[in-house]
Amino acid sequence: MNACIRAVVRTAMYNNLEIIGIKHGYSGMIQGDFIPLDSSSVSNIIQRGGTILKSSRCEEFRTKEGRAEAAKQLKAAGVDGIIAIGGDGTFTGAKIFYQEHQIPCIGIPGTIDNDLFGTDNTIGYDTALNTVVEAVDKIRDTADAHDRLFFVEVMGKDAGLIAIRAGIGVGAEAILIPETETYLDALIEKLQKGWERKKTSSIIIVAEGDDAGGAYEVANKVKARFDHYETKVTVLGHIQRGGSPSAADRVLASQLGFAAVDALIQGRKNEMLGIIDKKVCFTSFENAIKHHVKINYSLVKLAEVLSL
Ligand code: F6P
Repeated sequence: MNACIRAVVRTAMYNNLEIIGIKHGYSGMIQGDFIPLDSSSVSNIIQRGGTILKSSRCEEFRTKEGRAEAAKQLKAAGVDGIIAIGGDGTFTGAKIFYQEHQIPCIGIPGTIDNDLFGTDNTIGYDTALNTVVEAVDKIRDTADAHDRLFFVEVMGKDAGLIAIRAGIGVGAEAILIPETETYLDALIEKLQKGWERKKTSSIIIVAEGDDAGGAYEVANKVKARFDHYETKVTVLGHIQRGGSPSAADRVLASQLGFAAVDALIQGRKNEMLGIIDKKVCFTSFENAIKHHVKINYSLVKLAEVLSL
């Protein structure tokens, strides 16, 4: 997000626009927690994870009164347009806010889950993938040295996109995701076959929202029926949501930040920006929220074939 904020600020300044930062998202909007931003306020942040503006989940913005207060604060500060970085919740709020108060808003997709319709990648996804791959490579050293079976839980409450790509990247023996039903019988059979052909260790990637449960739950169920290996569980948790962004994320965030300012100048509003097939494109908030990203079944197949 910092790389994106930097791009927004610098592009606005290039176009002689005044720019302020809203602290803590919608909550700061309601409280009028605004800070002036200029070129130097965003220097030396492109390599930092998180956001200098901070973020929050704001219940008050779900209310009409909260949104009216936010509009009052923005009008008092002379705001003509908003750029909001986030996911489903952010754009649901932005859509209703525009309907009620007509302050133009452009959305930028920012979530590690990559589950937003209207863009190939969301800001943070590539970095999270690299974090998972690096961590699992390290876990595999122990799995291999001690002949263990590891269940590694990755983020993705509703989506298995981190799990599937990271799983392929680490050569996981199985990947469990919310989009496909998990058959424990099939998983155990696969582990059994591996055992019979003298496989000494395995890594199973479990998306936190998998239908069979999180990594602890799945590990316990498997252990009860298949105990040839010593079984361990690692939950990667919030290390996936931080850290220095990857080169791909920095470039994506910079492109989207630049395009968002340009979009507001062109008079666009109520849309989320994305990049599909290397081209900047727009999706209405309505569609970005309504449609769900489908898992790429060719990746599911690929993972299955390569883990034989
Ligand atoms: O943004 C979605 C997500 O990345 C999920 O995959 C994960 O469950 C959640 O965020 C964690 O959010 P929090 O830090 O608020 O618990």
